[in-house]
Amino acid sequence: MSYQPVSPLIVQSLIDIVGSSQVHSSLSKCTAYGQDKTEDLLFLPEVIVLPKTVVQIQQIMRLCSQNQIPVTPRGAGTGLAGGALPVCGGIVLSMECLNQILEIDEANLQVTTEPAVITEVLQEKVQEKGLYYPPDPASRGSSFIGGNVATNSGGPRAVKYGVVKDYVLNLEVVLPNGDLIWTGANTLKNSTGYNLTQLMVGSEGTLGIITKIVLKLIPLPSHSLLMLVPFRSPTKACAAVSAIFQAGITPSCLEFMERAAIDIAANYLQNNTLPIKEEVQAHLIVEVDGNHLDSLYLDCEKINSVLEQFDCGTILLADDQTTKNTLWQLRRNLNPAIKQYSAVKKADTVVPRAALAELLKGIHQISTQHGIRAINYGHAGDGNLHVSLLQEQLPNPIWEQQASSTLQAIFKLVKSLNGTISGEHGIGWIQKKYMPLVFNPVELQLMRAIKKTFDPTSILNPSKIID
Ligand code: MLT
Ligand code: ZN
Repeated sequence: MSYQPVSPLIVQSLIDIVGSSQVHSSLSKCTAYGQDKTEDLLFLPEVIVLPKTVVQIQQIMRLCSQNQIPVTPRGAGTGLAGGALPVCGGIVLSMECLNQILEIDEANLQVTTEPAVITEVLQEKVQEKGLYYPPDPASRGSSFIGGNVATNSGGPRAVKYGVVKDYVLNLEVVLPNGDLIWTGANTLKNSTGYNLTQLMVGSEGTLGIITKIVLKLIPLPSHSLLMLVPFRSPTKACAAVSAIFQAGITPSCLEFMERAAIDIAANYLQNNTLPIKEEVQAHLIVEVDGNHLDSLYLDCEKINSVLEQFDCGTILLADDQTTKNTLWQLRRNLNPAIKQYSAVKKADTVVPRAALAELLKGIHQISTQHGIRAINYGHAGDGNLHVSLLQEQLPNPIWEQQASSTLQAIFKLVKSLNGTISGEHGIGWIQKKYMPLVFNPVELQLMRAIKKTFDPTSILNPSKIID
């Protein structure tokens, strides 16, 4: 696809739409908006535009579709698959000014929000009313709710409460040609026609620009208990995961962390207060929540007896807020800590839960064969393992080539285990070359046809997900 440059005339038209204070093209701004949290990738846009209203977004999209200018929508830039990188140049359309919670509907347990509300702020605001929005990606302190919808992100609580798609009821969307649609209705049930809402969720800004979001909420559970469970064998820790569910318990979080990840994060946070014995090679973090504390303690006892069958060490029960916060802070900082420690390439593998131990074993075999160190952690209860391949001392060309063939082999393994290549980060820019490993040509062609229906000239977030 060929695109037109953003000419001075187009820049003037953009200024006419949003005002000169909302259009930027300095090198420092282009550099800041030319990257997200994906590796160390940088693609400079020509212009950054910060609309303040939906009407302005419609006008911008009309202008760009009439002039064949690529537009990359951007939330907070916390993505890990390069979905917000302006890989074809053009305009970065930053949503940051649409940042209001519009209504918390306590009677219907719903919230209507603009896309640039920080996820954690939205969670806190509904929590003040005794309500709960569970999806909690690790970056929730900085990610935007619109970006979460665009990638269908998850987080630790997905294991009990589901991912973003399970909460999105209705979306207002600006299409690439500037038309405005609502995808559904503000109802809990909806069997009316094709499900445009769910098509939009996880489409990574390739089909439309999400401008309003209606989310379902649930009552806030009043209690939680957290356990930190050490294991000598990471594989046994993974094997224990499905046994917990088979014992009839659904934890509210069930996370896995290899020892190396914990050590790097503890060092990054300068926090060595966790009592971790030398022989420990992995941990599970298991959380249960609900409204009856006594029954949560019973659940913990039951989980304890399951985990003992997998040779766990002494379990640390965190029932006070300080210890809980310490553990979650450590867990949420694994990604930035590892990224600071070494250049990394990441995979967001996901397999059926009972295949987790086999996945972990395979990842270690593959990375060893390729001469690359892999550190693993993730949402074990969902079968979702985040793999970080470390560059460490490898020279750059060797690293690029080895990391790419390692990822290829890991994704083949994932497919053979009936899994897939992204559980919650999306495909974006960096994983699209692996899509043919998990979809056949007919399936890929259907996806291309969907893209073409929404965006016939491919101006919206081009070159993402599929070519
Ligand atoms: C997490 O679970 O910490 C996030 O998905 C980011 C990551 O891959 O580390
Ligand atoms: Zn994650």
